[in-house]
Amino acid sequence: MKPIKVGLLGIGTVGSGTFNVLKRNQEEITRRAGRSIQITMVADLNTARAKELTQGECEVVSDANLVVSNPEIDIVIELIGGYGIAKDLVMKAIANGKHVVTANKALLATHGTEIFKAAQEKGVMVAFEAAVAGGIPIIKALREGLTANRIEWIAGIINGTTNFILSEMRDKGLDFDVVLKEAQRLGYAEADPTFDIEGVDAAHKATIMSAIAFGIPVQFDKAHVEGITKLQATDIRYAEQLGYRIKLLGIAKRTKVNGSEGIELRVHPTLIPAKRLIANVEGAMNAVLVQGDAVGATLYYGKGAGSEPTASAVIADLVDITRLATADPEHRVPHLAFQPDAMTDTPILPM
Ligand code: HSE
Repeated sequence: MKPIKVGLLGIGTVGSGTFNVLKRNQEEITRRAGRSIQITMVADLNTARAKELTQGECEVVSDANLVVSNPEIDIVIELIGGYGIAKDLVMKAIANGKHVVTANKALLATHGTEIFKAAQEKGVMVAFEAAVAGGIPIIKALREGLTANRIEWIAGIINGTTNFILSEMRDKGLDFDVVLKEAQRLGYAEADPTFDIEGVDAAHKATIMSAIAFGIPVQFDKAHVEGITKLQATDIRYAEQLGYRIKLLGIAKRTKVNGSEGIELRVHPTLIPAKRLIANVEGAMNAVLVQGDAVGATLYYGKGAGSEPTASAVIADLVDITRLATADPEHRVPHLAFQPDAMTDTPILPM
């Protein structure tokens, strides 16, 4: 069978990880996907660096439009980030009949409904495992592994940068700014780190999880968002003395007000008893607790950011799309994207 051809938009931290892991594990990935998956085209403004990273193995261009309009490309991986150019390119790729893999939580949390509607109409897939909790397969867990359950709540440490900052401040007594710089150096932080420290990135991820878990449209604008910038070293110390840890949690939870169902969607620093598993998630690691009515509580733990952990999620989506595109076109969209025509109208309640 002929290879699936992939165009990569943005070869930074995650893009280079994707290129390298795909190459290193090519044999296993081909076996699992049933077809070879080849990145044949890369778009990046820094073409010299892109050429160096790809070593002449694919075409390198600076104009991403050339990738999304290339009839040879089957899947576009969007790793540019942000809402502007990235949105245009994703919409163009969909309009041109290409499947899309994206790690762009900001884009999906704000424009997901429009994107998934367009994908459904066009009969293409949009996959986004890498958008939430990096290498942890939480989207697949919610959508596939826990599909029999009524999800009651989700609570997670879903921003590595802030967890790294809180851990380093507690363990080493380091200052906020010093640790933030280190998180940026390690490639955990967003291009605009205020998204991390103000809780916006975690809220994007919680919004996406809430949409899958509760079958509601993405509604980032309704999330209650509070970051860690108001926390001081003394708060962390006092919490410790009282037997607690402070963690920035993203929470999506079913609730009832006056007998009517609603959903709480919130991100804020939370006191957690120090002996709980989730209180001991350190550094840039992520962990997500999901409570389902049949399964009970489940916990997912792993690296929530970084080059190869995030690449692991991107490639899982490439393999999924390759299998589905090859085997079962009838059921493509409902399996991977939100289902715009199967949403419930349970409201997100103001906090
Ligand atoms: N800035 C994000 C984090 C990257 O720190 O978790 C992964 O989404």
